[in-house]
Formats: sequence, structure tokens, C-alpha cells
Amino acid sequence: MRIVFLGPPGAGKGTQAETISKEKNLSHISSGNLLREAVETGTETGIKARDYIEKGLLVPDQIVVDIIKERILKDDCKEGFILDGFPRTLSQAKVLDEMLKKLGNKLDLVFYFAVSKESVVLRLSGRRICSICGANYHVKYVPSSKDGICDKCGGKLYQRADDKLETVLERMRVYHEQTEDLIEYYRKNDILKEIVSDANIETITKNILDIIKSNLKYKPLISFGVI
Ligand code: AP5
Repeated sequence: MRIVFLGPPGAGKGTQAETISKEKNLSHISSGNLLREAVETGTETGIKARDYIEKGLLVPDQIVVDIIKERILKDDCKEGFILDGFPRTLSQAKVLDEMLKKLGNKLDLVFYFAVSKESVVLRLSGRRICSICGANYHVKYVPSSKDGICDKCGGKLYQRADDKLETVLERMRVYHEQTEDLIEYYRKNDILKEIVSDANIETITKNILDIIKSNLKYKPLISFGVI
């Protein structure tokens, strides 16, 4: 299955992609994580992307498209993937369609995470990330057992630089201006599923898994050559 998670910053895309990808044996491709890795390792891409990320702006399409193309062609994506944070502009969406068409594939589902501004601000202001393994926490909703320390690897937790309130508000503005149009784009293609993301994490996971299950029910007849 080839799935996109679409929605505003802090909607819970990464949290759900982590769980669902494991459950469904899909690769989790986060454009944000790939870009942050490039920034940390100081690659040419990272140097170009850094300023945009820090300001809460979108990194230019060509830079992101190149990273995603390279990632999707890797072996672990053959059986499917969840794209988390990509595409974010109409032009990225069109490139993705073309890319998949060339590979003889297409997107199966796009989950749109609908969430209130209040939840976004609360979630992002409390988000903490492990500096070693990248695990995602929240001081209130997903706390680590020991304050500031990762349960999985003992790494130190930190707050993402772009989770400062001022940058969060800018990311939301950019989302409304440049990404929201994708909801209509995918609705027209008839693959959009809306998820109420103001619910708790477990409820959202269950809703997504139910939709994937009901979507698969109609697919096997064709994919296994029965009709
Ligand atoms: P990116 O890393 O993609 O950030 P984002 O889309 O803004 O998404 P977030 O990671 O902030 O939120 P999320 O929806 O994944 O929420 P999460 O699950 O972590 O992008 C960062 C930057 O990179 C961009 O600003 C841009 O510069 C650049 N970039 C990336 N992709 C790009 C592209 N395609 N084109 C151009 N530029 C690009 O949850 C947030 C917090 O809430 C966590 O603490 C979590 O524990 C908690 N939480 C999650 N779900 C719930 C829940 N249901 N209830 C309570 N708490 C919850």
C-alpha cells in the first residue's frame, strides 16, 4: 500500500506513521526527518534547507522532491510506504503521481488529519524528541518515565527549534497557504479519508487501521487476478 499522511504541523502524522508502518509492515518516510538528518550531517542539501526549516517555511520543491525520489526507490519501499509530510504543494503532489506512474504504481489512500489550532499549539509546545534514537514524546500526553530521558535508549530529550510558538504559527500560516489545496486535489481523486485528529492517539490509530482494512477488502480481487 502507498499512503500519504497529510495535515497541519502537530496533527499527529509522525506519531501515527510510526505505529501504522510497523503494524502494516510499510516503510515510514518522513520528509521532515530526512531534511533534519541532512541538516545535522551538513550535506549540501542540508545546508540549503536549514534556513527554511528554522524560519518555518517550506524548503524549495526541487530539494525535497530529489530526497523523496531517492528514498522511494530503495528496496524497503517496494511493498509500500507511508509518506509523512510529503507532498506539501500541488507541484510536489503532481511529481509524486508521475513518479509512481513510472514505477507502475499509484497512491492508495491519503489520510487528512483534521485538527484544531488549540491542539496543534498544545502538542507542539510539549513535544520532545530523543537526541539519539529520534523517539517522539510529549510532556503531558506521551511522557517519558524519567523526565528529559528517553525510555527506549536513555538519550537526552530536546525540543525542536521550530516548535517555538512564533515558528509554529508561521508553519501553520504556510500550511494554510501552500498545503491545504491538496485536500481538494486528493478528494477529487477519490482517495482522501478524513481523520478527526483531536481524539486520543489510540482512537486515531484504530480509525486509520479500520479504514485501511476496509480499503483492502475491495483490492485483492483485482490484485490477485481474480477479475
Ligand atoms: P515536518 O517535520 O514534516 O513537520 P510538520 O509537518 O510540521 O509536522 P510535525 O512533525 O510538526 O507534526 P506531526 O503531525 O508529525 O505531529 P507529531 O506526531 O510529531 O517538517 C518540518 C519542516 O521541514 C517544515 O516546516 C519544512 O521547512 C520542511 N519540510 C518538511 N517536508 C517538506 C516538504 N514536503 N516540502 C517542503 N518543506 C518540507 O505530534 C506532535 C506532538 O503531539 C508529539 O509530541 C506527540 O507525542 C503528540 N501527539 C500526537 N498525537 C497526539 C494525540 N492524538 N493526542 C495528544 N498528543 C498527541
